[in-house]
Amino acid sequence: MLPDQKSQFVIAANRLPVRWVAAQNSWQPSPGGLVSAMMTSLSDLAPLHWVGWTGVAGEVSGSFDTQHGDMSLLPVSLTHAEAELYYSGMSNATIWPLYHDGVRPPEFHRTWWNSYVAVNKRFCKAIDSVAAPGAIVWVHDYHLQLVPKMLRERRPDVRIGFFLHIPFPPADLFARLPFRQQILEGLLGADVIGLQTLRSRGNFRRTVVSLKAGIAEQDEVLLVPQEATADSPPLHSPASQAIGPTRKVIARSFPIGIDVKRFTEAAASEDVKLRAKAIRDMIGVDKVLLGVDRLDYTKGIDIRMKAFGELLTEGLLSTQDCSMVQVAEPSRSNVNQYVELREEVEQLVGKINGLHGQLGRPAIHYFHKSQPFEEIVAMYLAADVMLVTPLRDGMNLVAKEFVATRLDNTGVLVLSEFTGASELLEKAMLVNPYDIDGMKRAILAAVGTPDEAAASHMKTLRQAVMGNDVHHWVKSFVDCLEDACAHDNR
Ligand code: G6P
Repeated sequence: MLPDQKSQFVIAANRLPVRWVAAQNSWQPSPGGLVSAMMTSLSDLAPLHWVGWTGVAGEVSGSFDTQHGDMSLLPVSLTHAEAELYYSGMSNATIWPLYHDGVRPPEFHRTWWNSYVAVNKRFCKAIDSVAAPGAIVWVHDYHLQLVPKMLRERRPDVRIGFFLHIPFPPADLFARLPFRQQILEGLLGADVIGLQTLRSRGNFRRTVVSLKAGIAEQDEVLLVPQEATADSPPLHSPASQAIGPTRKVIARSFPIGIDVKRFTEAAASEDVKLRAKAIRDMIGVDKVLLGVDRLDYTKGIDIRMKAFGELLTEGLLSTQDCSMVQVAEPSRSNVNQYVELREEVEQLVGKINGLHGQLGRPAIHYFHKSQPFEEIVAMYLAADVMLVTPLRDGMNLVAKEFVATRLDNTGVLVLSEFTGASELLEKAMLVNPYDIDGMKRAILAAVGTPDEAAASHMKTLRQAVMGNDVHHWVKSFVDCLEDACAHDNR
């Protein structure tokens, strides 16, 4: 595709699939579940444009290859002030904590909001510049919630899908947002709004009906007045029926999957299997517990470490036969709450290792750096117990990745009830991460699970993961969008 050509398919996400890493002087895959899931399914959509930020504020110094096979990257630049106000502020210190059940207090600042509006406008313009007439535009995640409405006003010809990768919160929490009306109107500019879970979908629809005047609901369809409605009703006032011409917006759950083939192939490769064996030999204990997360306070890393530490203190586990490996990928290190979390987690690792570690045998092997794909798969293979214990998580792909790599049906997954993944992976050992004693019991039970029971559960988990991979997710969403627009009323 020539750089100035337009596409029938456009993806917009805050991040491009690659980011500039100054320390390594190179482009690297972007962090997080959104990019890893989307990248693998792109062949289903190409040729396309991907509109997003490079991850670097101000001018990017390295040369930038905008053509990746059939995909053209269109960078949207952010100034240093915008990286602080729109990205670190509004996106990651207001919306992120609020949407994750308020597990950290969200901050509300008008300067952050103004920057969020300005950056959303810039994304909208960039999308407009590459979207062919009648194109499908798929907007992703919480950074760009105003784009659907802005784009509809600018380009009534395009079909607009929006997918929220993180949870949508309960109406009472969402209602705290001073900008709640603008965000709902922004989202309702889409033809299809995708949520990860039935819970998020329920929250979203209840929120819309309780906060937005003149919206009617029929199953998965919201009937949104064509004209802007008057101010919002107070929270929990009775829903009013739509009057006058309406537009249909579908709000449905589309649980995201992983690229199963990529993980099963890596898990079957001799190199990865050898590496997994080497990891086990190096750790040198009977039972390996593993956590793989971005270093984020929603992930419950500190809680699982506390639970493990208490089990060691109480003598219910011992570093003679048990060890934890925690990969904590650096994330959002300009946001205070992340700086504080890093300090807490690293103090905890020091404390637990100081108390329980032995020469050549730490209780916790801790990495604060991202690891290559093959190394992560080797770690999945080397583990006996996978600990996925977020306080709230839109989906959590790590849980699905672990399951996909267990070709021989071994291993136990301890999974928080508050992940989207738990809607599908009911046969995991489900835990309430707020209940440390419950978590301790689950870890002990996981370590002691007989092979046969583990195999029977893992088999069921594997079927669930295999049957809902990322290609299925992309197809369901895009089919729904095409279908909605084929019978639409624009
Ligand atoms: C989550 C979000 C993504 C985000 C990723 C990494 O998966 O849903 O939108 O890209 O975290 O976070 P970052 O702030 O580094 O982009």
